[in-house]
Amino acid sequence: MDFKRNILITGGAGFIGSHVVRLFVNKYPDYRIINLDKLTYAGNLANLKDVEQKPNYAFVKADICDFGAMQETLRQYRVDGIIHLAAESHVDRSIKDPFIFARTNVLGTLTLLQAAKEYWESLPEGYEGKRFYHISTDEVYGALQMTCPEGKENPISAHKVYGDAFFHEYTKYNPHSPYSASKAGSDHFVRAFHDTYGMPTLVTNCSNNYGPYQFPEKLIPLFINNIRHRKPLPVYGKGENVRDWLYVEDHARAIDLIFHRGKTADTYNIGGFNEWKNIDIVKVVIRTVDRLLGRPEGADMDLITFVADRKGHDMRYAIDSTKLRDELGWEPSLQFEEGIEKTVRWYLDNQAWVDNVTSGDYQRYYEEMYAGK
Ligand code: NAD
Ligand code: TYD
Repeated sequence: MDFKRNILITGGAGFIGSHVVRLFVNKYPDYRIINLDKLTYAGNLANLKDVEQKPNYAFVKADICDFGAMQETLRQYRVDGIIHLAAESHVDRSIKDPFIFARTNVLGTLTLLQAAKEYWESLPEGYEGKRFYHISTDEVYGALQMTCPEGKENPISAHKVYGDAFFHEYTKYNPHSPYSASKAGSDHFVRAFHDTYGMPTLVTNCSNNYGPYQFPEKLIPLFINNIRHRKPLPVYGKGENVRDWLYVEDHARAIDLIFHRGKTADTYNIGGFNEWKNIDIVKVVIRTVDRLLGRPEGADMDLITFVADRKGHDMRYAIDSTKLRDELGWEPSLQFEEGIEKTVRWYLDNQAWVDNVTSGDYQRYYEEMYAGK
């Protein structure tokens, strides 16, 4: 069967990638969606059970650092669009072992770029109709100050904000963690391939995502699981750090829109206009889990355990995504309380998924982490 487009999605077995794959496979039956993933601890094909039998879906198990495998995949599937999500994504892991972050995020992205360059340049039409879309993070911009710790109203958002500055598309890169430094490096390579070779690239920088299928090492799913099992909730420092949260399906919708209508060589910030202090999120999550499990609401507040702060912990992230709203009409669709309710319900209903992904390597990692090694 001839497909209208052949789109390679890397990291499609991970958290955000699986939502993007699902959206594209279902919404575009005339596109072939090729999910390429190494299946690290964070990649799980169970995330895609509902689409794996679809005729427009294919899976390739490969490492983005493997140049030959990237060449072969691009040629075999005649790939004309790439949405690149494969990455090491957890800040705490990057603090423990930065090398794998440089390898996957920087060298892996470069490997994929070079393979795409050689393949597309070998075609008679060259770069026409092609697109390399790189998914990045707001963490590359560094940290914002908490100039109003109590929070204040701001015209940019219906929610409280905790500072006067925001990340804009023109904010200077200033990454602090090995994770954000490696993502910054990969963003620079993507832009360099446009500026040097004319590759039609695009980069977006998104705030913290939450929702179903997120690996339970990140704040929200880790804490839902711990509350369920009445395990301590390790809040770093005083829990005052601020993150800007976006429901993962809203991110996937933005990626769809930008892949199709975003301007080549441009950058868009994607954010939920939804700033929260960690400690306030933890309290909302506790109340929601308690209510849905039929426990007295707030009964598990005593699980909150303040622990040593993360090294180099960025204070505040806050995205200004008005460019995306004004140019392409995107807005987040869910209020945070609705999104948290959906997320908690999903985790409580899918304990088998959680048990499956938290066996083996994950157990060893956490044993070491909390043994203070
Ligand atoms: P994730 O860790 O859940 O998934 C990453 C996926 O990449 C996994 O399926 C893993 O198997 C795969 N992968 C890792 N190394 C690979 C390699 N060498 N070759 C092939 N596949 C490999 O990550 P996520 O949270 O879904 O994030 C996806 C992307 O979005 C990342 O690039 C991340 O930087 C970016 N991002 C994430 C967030 C967030 O809040 N999670 C926010 C903004 C941007
Ligand atoms: P995380 O989900 O790791 O995302 P990121 O570091 O990319 O923002 O963490 C979100 C916030 O929650 C961050 O400020 C660190 C904090 N945090 C804790 O306090 N305890 C935890 O166990 C984890 C995983 C995170």
